[in-house]
Amino acid sequence: MHERFKYRTKDELLQKAKELNLDLPYSDDITPLFQPYNLAGFSIANRLVVQPMEGYDSDDDGSPSELAKRRYMRYSSGGSGIIWFEAVSVVHDGRSNPHQLWIHKKNSDNYSRLNDEIRKSAIKQGTDPFLVIQLTHSGRYSKPEGVAKPKVAALNPLLDKTMPYILTDDDLKRIMDQFVEVSKLACKSGFNAIDIKACHGYLLVDLLSAKTRTNSIFGGVETPGRFRFLLETIDRIKYEIPGIVVTIRVSISDLYSGGFGVDENGEPDFSEPLHLIDQLKLRGINLVNITMGSPYFNPHVSRPYDNPVPGQNKPAEHPLEGVMRMINSTALFQERFPDIAMVGSAWSFLRQFAPNTGAAVIKNGQASFIGFGRNSFAYPSMPLDLIKNGMADPRKVCITCSGCSRLIRSLRPGGCVIHDREIYGNELKKLIADEK
Ligand SMILES: Cc1cc2nc3c(=O)[nH]c(=O)nc-3n(C[C@H](O)[C@H](O)[C@H](O)COP(=O)(O)O)c2cc1C
Ligand code: SF4
Repeated sequence: MHERFKYRTKDELLQKAKELNLDLPYSDDITPLFQPYNLAGFSIANRLVVQPMEGYDSDDDGSPSELAKRRYMRYSSGGSGIIWFEAVSVVHDGRSNPHQLWIHKKNSDNYSRLNDEIRKSAIKQGTDPFLVIQLTHSGRYSKPEGVAKPKVAALNPLLDKTMPYILTDDDLKRIMDQFVEVSKLACKSGFNAIDIKACHGYLLVDLLSAKTRTNSIFGGVETPGRFRFLLETIDRIKYEIPGIVVTIRVSISDLYSGGFGVDENGEPDFSEPLHLIDQLKLRGINLVNITMGSPYFNPHVSRPYDNPVPGQNKPAEHPLEGVMRMINSTALFQERFPDIAMVGSAWSFLRQFAPNTGAAVIKNGQASFIGFGRNSFAYPSMPLDLIKNGMADPRKVCITCSGCSRLIRSLRPGGCVIHDREIYGNELKKLIADEK
C-alpha cells in the first residue's frame, strides 16, 4: 500500500523495508561514496551525481537564463563529482516547452561561459566536476510553442490520445545530423561527455520500442532496426569527435504495454536492454545512467513520492518498492557489465538515509554512482555536508512532495518549492492563484 515517508530513524526505515520483504541495503560507513572513480582518464572525485533536472527556464533562444545559471552554480558549489546537465534539445521543434534549453551555433558560447563559471566555483570547493550534457528530442512530448505537437516513431494506443505526426525516415536522418552537429558544439563548450537521452518516453526510447514501425530502416520487430538510430548516432559522434565520452541515460523498462524492455503485459523484460548495453560495450561506452518508466504515464516508477502531482492517483505500490525496483534492476545491469559505470536513480524518497543506502550499494558493486534528482533541487550542498558532518541534514532534504513536478507540468520554472521557497514557493503561489 502507498504510504508517505514517516521513518525518523534508520531502524524504523529498515523495519518498514523488512515488513515489505525488501532487502534495503544500508551502511553506517559512507566512505564508499567518496572513493574517486577513474573514467577514461578523468578522475571523478566522488560517487555523487546531480541528475539531469529540467528547469523550464531558458532564455527564448535556448540559452541558460539567469535562473538556470543560478541552478548550476548551486550544484557546482555543492561538491558532486558529476553534474549531469538537464535535457537540452537539439532542435527547436523537439523542445518539451518553449523554455527548454536548446543549444545551437548562435548560442553555444553561452554554454561555454556557464561551464567556465561552474568549474571556477567548483574548484574553490576542491572539486573539478565531470560535466555531462543530456541531448534530447522530446518526440511524443514536444511542445515547442507551449501546445502539444507530438512527433513519434510509432503509434502507441495507450499513449496517443490524438493522432501524432509520425516522423519519416528522412525526418529522423535530419534529427540524427543535428545530434551530431550539436555534440560538436557541446564538446567545444567544455562538456566532458555527451548523453544521448533514451528515456522517459522521449524520441530515442520511442525508437527503441518501435516494433510496429514498418517499411523503415529505423524500426521493426527485430532489434537492429530499432537500435539503429541510437547506435548510428553514437558511432557518428565518436567518429567526428575522437576521444569524447559518449553515454546514454536509458529507461531499461518503460513498464507499459508496447514500451521498451517489457513483455506483452508491460512487465519488465530486460533481454533487449541487456542486448543494447552489449552493443554499447562493443563501442567502448563506459558510463550509463539507468532509469525506468515515464513521468507522463507512471511517474511513481521513475520518482517514488509522498504525494503525486494534484489530479494524479496515488499508485498501489509502496514508494520503497519503487526504490528497490530501481536498486535491484540497476544492480542486475552493473553486475552483468562490471566495466561500465552505472549511475543509479530514484534516491530522493530515502531522504537523509539515501547516502547510507547509496554507500552500501556502491560497496556491494550494485552501482558505481548514486544520482540525485529532486534532492539536488532541494539540497545541492548535501555532498559537502556529508564530508563535513558525516551525515545529511534531515531538515534540508527533499520531501518528495512533487511541487517541482507540478511547476514544470504547468510549464513554469521548476525548482524546490520547499527549500528554495523565495523563488519557487512564489511560483507555486502564482500557479495556485492562476488555477483559481
Ligand atoms: C522537475 C523534474 C525535472 C526532471 N528533468 C529531467 C531531465 O531533464 N532529464 C532526465 O533524464 N530526467 C529528468 N528528471 C528525472 C530525474 O533526473 C530523476 O531521475 C528523478 O527525479 C528520480 O530521482 P530522485 O528520486 O532523486 O528525484 C526530472 C525530474 C523532475 C522531478
Ligand atoms: S518541490 Fe522540493 S521537496 Fe518537493 S519534490 Fe521537488 S525538490 Fe522535493
